[in-house]
Amino acid sequence: MNKIPILDLKKQIAPIRKELDAAIKRVIDNTNFILGEEIKDFEHEVEKYCNVKYAIGVSNGTDAIKLSLRALGIECGDRVLCPAFTYYATAGAITSMGAIPVFADIDPETYNISVESIEKVLKKNSSKKIKAIMPVHLYGQCADMDGILRIARIYRLKVIEDTAQAFGTEYKGKKAGTMGDCGAVSFFPGKNLGAFGDAGMVLTNTEVAAERIKILRNQGNKDKYYHLMLGYNNRMDTIQAAVLKVKFKYLDSWNKIRQKNAEYFNQQLKGLNIKLPFAPEYTTHIYHQYVLRLNSPSAPLIEHLRNKGIDARVYYPVPLHLQKCFKYLNYKKGDFPESEKASLETIAIPVYPDLTRQDLDYIIASIREFLR
Ligand SMILES: Cc1ncc(COP(=O)(O)O)c(C=O)c1O
Repeated sequence: MNKIPILDLKKQIAPIRKELDAAIKRVIDNTNFILGEEIKDFEHEVEKYCNVKYAIGVSNGTDAIKLSLRALGIECGDRVLCPAFTYYATAGAITSMGAIPVFADIDPETYNISVESIEKVLKKNSSKKIKAIMPVHLYGQCADMDGILRIARIYRLKVIEDTAQAFGTEYKGKKAGTMGDCGAVSFFPGKNLGAFGDAGMVLTNTEVAAERIKILRNQGNKDKYYHLMLGYNNRMDTIQAAVLKVKFKYLDSWNKIRQKNAEYFNQQLKGLNIKLPFAPEYTTHIYHQYVLRLNSPSAPLIEHLRNKGIDARVYYPVPLHLQKCFKYLNYKKGDFPESEKASLETIAIPVYPDLTRQDLDYIIASIREFLR
């Protein structure tokens, strides 16, 4: 058993357990398990918080991407640009629509999609049907949205922001997920705001997209048994909305503690032979992950920390263009060197809000010991 896990949900839940139990009990008492009042309430709270016109609760973050693509008119055979260095679901959701992922490399400082690489890929694929671009706000900080939106305007691309790891982050004062045509949020239990199971949300300022997503998530019907579109069962469970409503009140304060923990790590690890996370001035960072980088493979440091009882990981050890499942896309090693290097050299350490000062100091001392 690890002494310090990568995340400790038991510690997060314990102080708010009574509130959570009461919220769940209310749903059980009402038996309004599907699209109950809590869903609407939570959607409205998110609309206010994000200053976005529509927030639509759905089954999970992957489906939030899938529904966004469908609502924006992405069809079978269309191509969608996304980073090679992200979680599988970014590209997996594209393929689930019959669309084709086209990868771009990342910026080695922020680990987010590189605007330069996007331009290169678009020029190279100019004859192909690239219809959309999907930046990922990886680890909790925003991609370079001005650059991305500028290119999207030039090439007339739809923009879907994969906001799975960045709910609450701000880009120049605007909430992540509200700048493109749609933003897809995940409330997977391990996210900064996590449900008690799967849940997700689509953010959009476009009425047509919102209307389509509401229909698509609910078997393609608006009025029961009258099906307007070929839809899916992609609703958020009422019980998840009830849980999320309780936890949502604490999100900003939890994120602040993550930022404080990150600041402390930055201070204590400064000047050592290890690269600290870099957040450009245009974005806040909610440290869904606190990611360090060595100028050599991070595997020995990960092993050292694991031996010390600290759960450290790489997010993600194999970039998407080199994953077996995407072999049919014919990419090869060397196509996206920054993604490949990041997958080798980075390491995420625990940064969650329930860590004590003692935990932080133990992690720092263990890293220092390795670097010596
Ligand atoms: C970057 C990214 N995109 C998409 C997803 C998919 O979200 P979910 O697990 O809720 O389907 C996740 C999280 O798991 C993610 O981290």
